[in-house]
Amino acid sequence: MRLLLLNGPNLNLLGQREPGLYGRQTLEQIEQDLNQRASAAGVQLDCFQSNFEGALVERVHQAMGEVNGILVNAGAYTHTSIALRDALLGVAIPYVELHLSNTHARETFRHHSFLADRAVGVVSGFGPFSYGLAFDGLLNHLRKAAV
Ligand code: DQA
Repeated sequence: MRLLLLNGPNLNLLGQREPGLYGRQTLEQIEQDLNQRASAAGVQLDCFQSNFEGALVERVHQAMGEVNGILVNAGAYTHTSIALRDALLGVAIPYVELHLSNTHARETFRHHSFLADRAVGVVSGFGPFSYGLAFDGLLNHLRKAAV
């Protein structure tokens, strides 16, 4: 089993960026924790972060035929990117959308997601723990689908 963790714009600043909202853990720490969870579960995890929409789209294309599932925190592109939605649907890889913050408890422009309606599920509001929850949820879904 191979999964891809995709992080969008400004998530490289985790740890420094609005810590009251997003916590003090860096993206590197989050990726390390998730890698530990992945190796304990016998899963190979690839991690990719970009501030560029096109780079995220291309990374999704690259995943076709290589990964079984995608964990995606698309940051602000969640609320704006039809291109990322089309890429995820185009490669037909099951994905879970995740957010550190509860986007529904924030500004109304964050309430809409271009990814949510086709996701396996959405995890939002648990800080860095959202990544672990999303990982467990996606893995459970894929393992159930495999039997
Ligand atoms: C975010 C929520 C988005 O609305 C925001 O643009 C982000 C981070 C989150 O993880 O809570 O960059 O995806």
